[in-house]
Amino acid sequence: MLSVQNIQSGYGESMILNGVSLEVKPGQVVSLMGRNGVGKTTLMKTIMGTLKARQGSICYKDSDLTKTPPSRRAKAGIGLVPQGREIFGTLSVRENLLLGLEAGRTGEKEVPPEALQKFPVLPSMYDRRGGDLSGGQQQQLAFARALASRPELLLLDEPTEGIQPSIVSDIQDVIRSIRASGKVAILLVEQSIEFVKSVSDYYYVMDKGTIVAEGSIHELDEGSIRQYLVV
Ligand SMILES: Nc1ncnc2c1ncn2[C@@H]1O[C@H](COP(=O)(O)OP(=O)(O)OP(=O)(O)O)[C@@H](O)[C@H]1O
Ligand SMILES: [Mg+2]
Repeated sequence: MLSVQNIQSGYGESMILNGVSLEVKPGQVVSLMGRNGVGKTTLMKTIMGTLKARQGSICYKDSDLTKTPPSRRAKAGIGLVPQGREIFGTLSVRENLLLGLEAGRTGEKEVPPEALQKFPVLPSMYDRRGGDLSGGQQQQLAFARALASRPELLLLDEPTEGIQPSIVSDIQDVIRSIRASGKVAILLVEQSIEFVKSVSDYYYVMDKGTIVAEGSIHELDEGSIRQYLVV
């Protein structure tokens, strides 16, 4: 589904990713862990295309997307829930959701009911400004906005960061239900090892711009990766 090979990427003079490779197979949930500042978001931006890869390749469903602009990657079926949510504060909830449709490839004019079913709190807030929602509600909105484009690969960058436990649990349920459907693959950046174990098939650990550990979730040995995680 997604094959990232030997990616080097960074900002200006500073190289952040020094040869990252990873794979996501169809329908899998793959988690990426690692401390603050190791380059997880930089990798997500490079996969989405908002940051150019200096070296390496990004292949998605047998197409080489390495040089493809972000809008075409979205149209190809890659959706992103960015770190910090990036909700448009002055736009309504409904308008934020419609922006997800714009990004996608289906040409639909209304938000697909499946995207909203997973977040039943949202329809009652349709006319509220995005900026007036709580952090957790904004996170749900960002998730639904990405689902509105009917992605086949969903990139989730720390969707539980700074969110109250009840909404973390809702998001956990949503990821599990997507996984159970087998229709959408997910690359999830997440700091909580418990959360990763509860939703994923496979994991990678990143440190200083490279992958330092990986394996199937059943083989995850917390002791051996704890040194690379937030204490
Ligand atoms: N726009 C930017 N310009 C210059 N340097 C940046 C920029 N964005 C991030 N960096 C630097 O790149 C490095 C990796 O940042 P990145 O955001 O990818 O880390 P991260 O693993 O996602 O961290 P966190 O867990 O805190 O989200 C950091 O040293 C950061 O300061
Ligand atoms: Mg980050």
